This record gives sequence, C-alpha cells and structure tokens, in this order.
Amino acid sequence: MHRVAYFNGKIIPESEVKISMWDAGFQLGYTIVEAERTFNHKIAKLDEHIDRLWKSAKYAQIDPGMSKSEIKKETLRVLNKNLKLISPHMDYWVYQFITGGVFNFFQSSELESRPQTVIISCFPITFNHYARFYKTGAHAVTPSICISPPISQDPKLKCRSRVNYHMADLQARQSDPDAYCLMLDIQGNIAENRGANFFIVTDGKLRTPTTRNVLAGISRKNVIEMAKKLKIPVAEEDLQLYDAYTADEAFFTSTSFCILPISKIDHVTISNQIPGPITQKLLNAWSKKVNLNIVGQAFKNANLKE
Ligand SMILES: Cc1ncc(COP(=O)(O)O)c(C=O)c1O
Repeated sequence: MHRVAYFNGKIIPESEVKISMWDAGFQLGYTIVEAERTFNHKIAKLDEHIDRLWKSAKYAQIDPGMSKSEIKKETLRVLNKNLKLISPHMDYWVYQFITGGVFNFFQSSELESRPQTVIISCFPITFNHYARFYKTGAHAVTPSICISPPISQDPKLKCRSRVNYHMADLQARQSDPDAYCLMLDIQGNIAENRGANFFIVTDGKLRTPTTRNVLAGISRKNVIEMAKKLKIPVAEEDLQLYDAYTADEAFFTSTSFCILPISKIDHVTISNQIPGPITQKLLNAWSKKVNLNIVGQAFKNANLKE
C-alpha cells in the first residue's frame, strides 16, 4: 500500500504525480502552498488554512481553478485514503500546492492560463527532526541573509519561491549543524525562521514581530489567542536582537511542532529551564485543546524518553 495524492482532478498513487518541465512551479517557483497537520488523525484549522491559501492565490494572481469547498473535500478524501497507512500514534502533514500552470517561456512570456497544477498530498510528520528540542531547546542562529522586504515579496504570501530562506538556513547550519535560522529584515528587526514564527517572553510579557515582517502563521495566531485566555500580556512589535538575547524565554511556532522552545540565540543562552514557565503553559493549553500530548507524541514517535 502506498500513499495517494490529488493531482489535477484525480486521486492517484503519489509516485505517479509528474509535472511538466514547463510548469511555472518548476520554472519560476510560482507555487502557493498550504500545510496543515492532523492531531489524532483529524485536520486542525482546515478552514483557516484554505482561507490563507485563497489570499495567497489572490495576491500572487493564481486562479486555483476550483472552489474552497472543492479543495477541502478533496483534501479530506486524500487524507482518509492515506490514514490507513500510519499507526494510531502517528499524524500527517497535509499539503495543498497550486502553481500558475504551464509556462513555456520560449513560446510566450504569458502563462498558459489552464490548467493550473493542483496537488494535495500527505506526509507523516518527521517528529525525529525536532522532538529532542522540546527538552534541550533549539539553537536559533541569525544568518546575514535577510527576508525579502514586503515591497518586493510580502512575507504574508505563503509560497515556494523562497531561495533566500533556504540559503539563510544553510548559512545558520554552518554555524551549528542543529541550528534553526532566525532571519532579520533589512532594517535589522527580527523576522522569522524559514518555516516558523518567533516569540520571546520578557518580564512575563509575550512578544512577537508584527505581520509586516512575517508570515501570518496560524500557530502564531493560536498562541496569541491562548495567551490572551491565560491572561498573559501579548505585544506584536518590532524586536531587535537585543530583545532576543535579553529575553527570559524564546520559542518558535509552526504547524508541525506547534511550539518549539529555544535555549540559545547566536550561542547566547536564553534560559537553562526548557521549556520556560510561560512556554510550558502555552504547550499545555495547546495539548488540552487538541486532546493530545504534543510533546509526548513527538517523543514516542522519535523513540525518545520523556
Ligand atoms: C516562513 C514561515 N513562517 C512561519 C510559518 C508558520 O506558519 P504556520 O503556523 O501557519 O504553520 C511557516 C509555515 O510553514 C512559514 O513557512
């Protein structure tokens, strides 16, 4: 039994999904993307993710060629067919990719309007990549490569054309093979990791960069909402490395790991208590919300002891 994926109207074995060399996704990186995850085999916040995908489509001027309800229906069909391939303790990432379609630049500088390429796929969450950091904390390293200024490519666009994010990550990992990059913007304000938003805690207050600088992460929003319910003050503001190095706690947020504690930034120790007290409160609140021990599941799947 092998995983299946939705590919331009059909559900087929994932290994048979083949795109043209003229696809604008391949030629230009002209691909918008969404990534959800399942908790206990159920997709979380699918509506919010599809709403963000539609905003990306509008901003990038890609016509998805299907309605929101169609893409949601196909997403659930793909997931249901793939669920039997994983154990009850494992969960999936679920992806939607939409490219601008075929773009044969020798023939014309115009995109051929149809068909767009739409792919929906699943991949088992790679808990072993990060589970240990719930205990030790991750090391965030600031590379010299910055995020694109919003006037050039708005970071709110969730897309695949982010070579600078990839190179920033490579650069950070030259400093420490386990590092997570923490990119700045061209003014020197802290932005985000290649796939995660960034938070610090200073004197009991949760602080995070504004969405001028970063993807409007759905996990970021969830953390802000949970913090408000827990009566933890929250500020969305410009942050500099001074704020980060002098913080009491720091963490990343992303759909896969939810909240990942940070112990060091550029080799500067932020906290020896991992997770810090506020990070722990937020992780507990999130686990309660999804009825699953987020850290416990990651440890179990990575064969680590809690
Ligand atoms: C650049 C970037 N920032 C932040 C995030 C986190 O967003 P979310 O919480 O919606 O997964 C992602 C997710 O892939 C991302 O690509």
